[in-house]
Amino acid sequence: MCGIVGHVGLKNSVSNVVEGLKRLEYRGYDSAGVCFKSKKSELKLCKKSGKLQNLIDSLEEVDLENSHACIGHTRWATHGEVNDTNAHPHLAENIGIVHNGIIENATKLKSELKSEGMKFLSETDSEVFLGLVVRAFKTTKTLQEAVSIAFKQIEGNSAFLIMDKDREEIVAIKRGAPLVCGSQSHGSDIFTSSDPYALVGMADTIYFPEDEVICVLDIKTDPLIQFFELDGSYSKRFLMQEQEMNLELSEKGEFEHYMLKEIHEQPALIRSFAQYYSNLGGISFHSLTGIEPKLIHVVACGTAWHAGLVIKNFVEKFNKIPCNVEQASEFRYRNPLLLEGELGLFISQSGETADTLAAQELCTKSGLKTISVVNVEGSTLYRNCDENMLIRAGIEIGVASTKAFTQQVLTGYLYSSALLKKFEDGYYIKEFNLLADRIDSILNRSEEIEEIASEIYNKKGFIFTGRGSYFPIALEGALKLKEIAYVHAEGYAAGELKHGPIALIDEEMVNIAIVGKELYDKTVSNIQEVKARRGIIVTIGPEGDASLEEMSDYYIGLNYTDLGDLAPLYVNVVNQLLSYYMAKFKGTDIDKPRNLAKSVTVE
Ligand code: AGP
Repeated sequence: MCGIVGHVGLKNSVSNVVEGLKRLEYRGYDSAGVCFKSKKSELKLCKKSGKLQNLIDSLEEVDLENSHACIGHTRWATHGEVNDTNAHPHLAENIGIVHNGIIENATKLKSELKSEGMKFLSETDSEVFLGLVVRAFKTTKTLQEAVSIAFKQIEGNSAFLIMDKDREEIVAIKRGAPLVCGSQSHGSDIFTSSDPYALVGMADTIYFPEDEVICVLDIKTDPLIQFFELDGSYSKRFLMQEQEMNLELSEKGEFEHYMLKEIHEQPALIRSFAQYYSNLGGISFHSLTGIEPKLIHVVACGTAWHAGLVIKNFVEKFNKIPCNVEQASEFRYRNPLLLEGELGLFISQSGETADTLAAQELCTKSGLKTISVVNVEGSTLYRNCDENMLIRAGIEIGVASTKAFTQQVLTGYLYSSALLKKFEDGYYIKEFNLLADRIDSILNRSEEIEEIASEIYNKKGFIFTGRGSYFPIALEGALKLKEIAYVHAEGYAAGELKHGPIALIDEEMVNIAIVGKELYDKTVSNIQEVKARRGIIVTIGPEGDASLEEMSDYYIGLNYTDLGDLAPLYVNVVNQLLSYYMAKFKGTDIDKPRNLAKSVTVE
């Protein structure tokens, strides 16, 4: 989704912002632009639809070194089509803005401003906020005051950067949308962005302001970044954190795509994750220790929701606590029954998914304790939950989530063990290391999976099936394939096939059938039913199962019998590789699939 970056410094503001925007490309966008202050003390605007390179090319004539303040944006269209005019920043009366999010009362505000004679160039809701700032600035002494007046008039979740021609200053503010500021321990460059990753290697201290805190970045003040409440008083409502991320870790290295790199990172991550939590003596919940929830609402979106379905199996099996697993977009609007003694568990890689955040807020308002299973430390979800379990997946750049899913499930597994107060010495290390070894072994068989992918990638459609703990893996396999290969794929509980989807089966349909230990015979019967209708069978099943192999068109035998409850994670890596190679044969943009965004910060 949209990304924002701002820089104030002695020079090179535009280059710093463009560097930040490059880092945000992975989030998905359709146009990009910058607004900057040049030597002549006027604001200049440059924006282009399409790839960031279009913007970079158009900046060739610009004296990049002599820019002292700049705001930049990558846009993912919500209001108005993709074109240069609708791209951000927007500029009027020497005030420039960039915006992430949606202004829900934009239509009403726009007609009000129009009736006062204001003209609009774009179709965006963002330009309405610019209009409000312009109007307010006619009556205020500072830009900060004008922003405060304008911000109070808008509804919905948004983050903004605003600058004007007279000061080398950026004003930043947000409600329900990600925004950070950054500074250097040695140096006078200051930054702001919607994602701390944009600032890796540039800022070493990151500030996370809370909602409705105005951040003022100005290299002439001390401190360089100041925080204010909307009434102008100083604010302490921000969190400060050292930036630990290393740029090298976020590069593709020898891999052709981030997705492939991230699939390959899984064994090492699993090993270090086990070691980390084992050193800590397991996961501990400070204030929640001792609470035995009566019911857990597990809420998430997309892949994280699939992880929730696997985690439900652990918690219900080991802890005997009922779990209600729901998609956040449904949960937040259906008036869920939330009762005392229940708990909200929110799963998110980014910690910035708008629906998940709203669901968490709903639980908090209803008096429920909330816990996150989250990757990004300091994200909004992390800050809003009572307790957090970090999945420690490192930065995930590929839009299609892979390693985060594995780490989310493992975190859920440890959570379930924590509820049992079960952390025997070294036990998890052994169990997790075995899983890591098996994933290594499947990664070593990538060529075999690539070969199968080459034979099936152009078939009409794909149905992933599984039972029990493999059902969520079937759903996740289908989602991955849809996302990156742009083919129609469905995940089904194997036993449900005959209740409708079997009508789709013919010689052009592929059934990727996962056969586990549980309900083996029944799952094999489901394969027979597909076979009888001439469907193409790709079976992921137990190693050395000759009859199952015989029945299948393609067979991927796995040694998972000793992996117990973690076996679904092993199988899932096969699906990740299958999708990856099928997408590669189709020639799609694997790391940045069309229409998708890494972090869905709007509804
Ligand atoms: C996964 O491949 C997706 N791109 C998507 O479904 C994602 O898992 C979902 O948007 C949730 O994101 P989050 O984990 O950052 O909350």
